Amino acid sequence: MRKKIVAGNWKMNTLPAEGVELAKGVVAGRGEVCSCVNFIVCPPFTHLAMVAEALKGSDVALGAQNCAAEAKGAYTGEVAASMIAALGCKYVILGHSERRQYYGETSATLNKKMEQAYANNLVPIYCVGENLEEREAGKHFDVVKAQIEEVVYNLTEEQFRNLVIAYEPVWAIGTGKTATADQAQEIHAYIRKVLADKFGTAAAECPILYGGSCKPSNAAEIFAKEDVDGGLIGGAALKAEDFLAIGKGFAK
Ligand code: 13P
Repeated sequence: MRKKIVAGNWKMNTLPAEGVELAKGVVAGRGEVCSCVNFIVCPPFTHLAMVAEALKGSDVALGAQNCAAEAKGAYTGEVAASMIAALGCKYVILGHSERRQYYGETSATLNKKMEQAYANNLVPIYCVGENLEEREAGKHFDVVKAQIEEVVYNLTEEQFRNLVIAYEPVWAIGTGKTATADQAQEIHAYIRKVLADKFGTAAAECPILYGGSCKPSNAAEIFAKEDVDGGLIGGAALKAEDFLAIGKGFAK
């Protein structure tokens, strides 16, 4: 049985006090959703310590949105994996399309970030996904395959067993355009096959999340698909009520 996960990527939103309120709202309503759903919130770095405090005593996990490629030292403005782990993070989002697109993150950088994450016992939520042009040219399978081969294939089997993948088509992020449930299933199944080619039966255990305009009204249909194990939620994670309602989308 694969883990069911609903993770909130808050991106660069909320002030710290608002973030704490949001986290408290998630904790307060969490009991209304099946305990089989693993909730994760990923606030900005500046909020991590305060949000960790707000999550204390609950089963809502904390994640960061990024970490540095280096362990420590003269890297002004960077935040090390050891620092976020020390604040209570269990997860770290790596390779989000916004980081690839706006901050030039390449597979070479991401290999180093993955190494830092594992060295600090963090579970990476590794993001893959094609842009609109690539989808329209029918290249989406090749794009995600390369993103997996260049990074995930470098992991040991033990590391792979502590990995979450998020498939986020760039054309569906923040656009209101969601991949259909069938489109999501098609590529999630493909991703699982690419993972199985390298890691064999362990691929059946890897949670693969869908991300991109996921909301309470479409989550249930998408999550009902065999190879979709939850969601990485942007906009709808900024309201505790919507975020929790997405978690209720699991019928299986
Ligand atoms: P939206 O849910 O706002 O489309 O964002 C998805 C996303 O990028 C989560 O990482």
